[in-house]
Amino acid sequence: MGEDKRRVAEAAALLVEPGMRLGLGSGSTALLFVEALGRRVADGLALPAAVATSRATEEAARRAGLAIADMAHEAAPTALDLAVDGADEVDPALDLVKGGGACLLREKIVAAMATRFVVIVDGSKRVARLGAFPLPVEVVPFAVAATREAIAARLGVRPTLRRVDGAPLLTDNGNLILDCPLGAIDDAQRVDAALRAVPGVVEHGLFLAMADDVLVGTRGDVERLTAPRQ
Ligand code: 5RP
Repeated sequence: MGEDKRRVAEAAALLVEPGMRLGLGSGSTALLFVEALGRRVADGLALPAAVATSRATEEAARRAGLAIADMAHEAAPTALDLAVDGADEVDPALDLVKGGGACLLREKIVAAMATRFVVIVDGSKRVARLGAFPLPVEVVPFAVAATREAIAARLGVRPTLRRVDGAPLLTDNGNLILDCPLGAIDDAQRVDAALRAVPGVVEHGLFLAMADDVLVGTRGDVERLTAPRQ
């Protein structure tokens, strides 16, 4: 499985052309992409400062020799040519669940900024229907209990506060993650609308109609899936 991740990461790095404005995803597969890109930059590929979707990716990118834009600056990039990121689940329509690494807010912003959003996964991430992976929802810490109850009431689930070493996990944005074990999602648009209606919800990990291509690493090969809407 590790080899499959490495293979798709390297295939994605070959999509990058000189001068491209890039978004760099988060998670183990995206970090392999960052490393592969770093090797191309070391070989002479010239790129403007890229946009990282997490502090971990930013640090890895700098180690790999990539320049990173300060996205809190008012003159920060507003558009990207290509964003590359991993996913926790990919369905046949190329809708995704993301956020296993708690980076979903920045990941969604960066994917939305990109003309082309390419997802890189190993074959274990392909599912017939989204939802076996608990849906991560980023919420502000204020009134987290009320927000959790509101989500529970709307979706009929028991969201779990994500913890690390016993303490609530804080995202790079200073927020919390509620993991929602929805089971098979029949109507992702309804889940999206229900979550958006809850005050306190910042973003959720359903990426609907966002991926342009998914590169899947399977048993020594890379399969390319293109969104049916294109
Ligand atoms: C982080 C993410 C990751 O892209 C997702 O969890 C996949 O990670 P990995 O490549 O390590 O399997 O959404 O928020």
